[in-house]
Amino acid sequence: MSAAVESARAAVNGRVNGHRPASGAAPAVPWEDQFLPTPLRLDDKIRTQKIESRLQALVLCGGVLRRVGDVFEAELERGLREQPSSLQMENTYVPELPDGTEEGVFLALDLGGTNFRVLLLELRAGQLVRQHVKQYHINNALRLGTGDELFNFLADCVQDFVHELGMEDQEFSLGFTFSFPMKQHSISSGELITWTKSFKCSGLEGVDVAALLERCLRARRLRITVRVLLNDTTGTLVAGAHIDPNVGIGVILGTGSNGCYMERASRVQHWEAAHERVQDVCVDVEWGAFGDNGCLDFFRTEFDKEVDANSLLATSFTFEKYIGGKYLGSLLSAALGALARDQLFPAEPEPDQLQTAHLSLFEEENCAGEVAQTLRVLREVCPGAALTAHDALVAQHVAHLISNRAAQLVSVCIATLLRRMRRPHVAVAVDGSVYKHHPRIAGLMDKYITLLAPDHSFSLLGAEDGSGKGSALTAAIAARIAARDAA
Ligand code: BGC
Repeated sequence: MSAAVESARAAVNGRVNGHRPASGAAPAVPWEDQFLPTPLRLDDKIRTQKIESRLQALVLCGGVLRRVGDVFEAELERGLREQPSSLQMENTYVPELPDGTEEGVFLALDLGGTNFRVLLLELRAGQLVRQHVKQYHINNALRLGTGDELFNFLADCVQDFVHELGMEDQEFSLGFTFSFPMKQHSISSGELITWTKSFKCSGLEGVDVAALLERCLRARRLRITVRVLLNDTTGTLVAGAHIDPNVGIGVILGTGSNGCYMERASRVQHWEAAHERVQDVCVDVEWGAFGDNGCLDFFRTEFDKEVDANSLLATSFTFEKYIGGKYLGSLLSAALGALARDQLFPAEPEPDQLQTAHLSLFEEENCAGEVAQTLRVLREVCPGAALTAHDALVAQHVAHLISNRAAQLVSVCIATLLRRMRRPHVAVAVDGSVYKHHPRIAGLMDKYITLLAPDHSFSLLGAEDGSGKGSALTAAIAARIAARDAA
């Protein structure tokens, strides 16, 4: 191992997963400084300094994060009151969580990424006893075509799925996980506000997607009723609460990012149904759009502007572009490109080549004090450039700064929700590819939430398949409530 790699290893190993070692007489670190990322250590001190100063804007200190938290809270309050805000604060009409009595056979649809999933799930006394899943790829043409084509395709997939199971004539209740911002009118209806991530179909904004889906299913003579229309964060919260009743917040940290939480019903302005008996209701924050009104411009960097300008949906979903897996690789590329233009890195990466999986890989190698895989990737994305182990350390450092900032920003949102909920303990159900596959994110979040909400007890709970199981559980909850209301 080279001296450069050795010294880099020493630099990161002090804080694997964001935690300082418990042993040893480390001096108390001031609160502010605990947010600082691990410094870059190269033999060439001048280059190190120049790189650190070129990337300084990606480093958020505790004071800036506090300010982000204050803005988040103010936007959240305005959103709940239906005043202008970049936070949608959508009433999901999900008023209760699983209690172990959920029963029945349900279909669940999961639309949000490039794969569309259709599931059949059977619940007995709250437990999942049977599950069939089939995945269908949604190609670019469908994701960027017309809304009608997309929904007819979805209905074709459902038909194919029930046909394969020999259940075409059966009646089903369906939970539709639609992971995009919606204006919900009830637990089973809602209009698309805007597309995000890699979707941009025409003619669907303002359309009730549950009603459209049902029409397409009926046209195929399928006897399927959409009982619940939900977001993936709601599904995650419900699936998490099924494991741990302390779950009160659901978070997705994947291609996109978002959170939801149980809010007091009386604090929610938007209701299109009687709610006298509702105590708490799940609110979908839609924090991906946080900052779309300019309220976060105080820490926006040139790299963020570049990523936004090159994105499919420019000038929207500002916050998601700081933390979502769809964008972290592009941020890495933008920052390395800037270093290259200043002769601090051998070459600009070829456009669209660095992905979030590479960022995770760089971080993983950084933790292990290795550079071999980082160098291999850099040689692929910067063909012909003369790259050294030091350059690999620089790329790992950029990956670390971007990851650290993402972890801090998502932690600010969670810490604010914890303070607002004021419960003795809140478990936060988290799902998504970045959370699952990034080697440091979970540890960093744990550390930063603790720093930002020191008096609030919480735990992070990895939740699986909120969009499938959570969707079926929510459909069962809706059936339970409907039966109770009818009695
Ligand atoms: C969508 C959210 C969703 C999140 C995670 C965002 O782009 O707007 O509704 O929850 O992605 O999938």
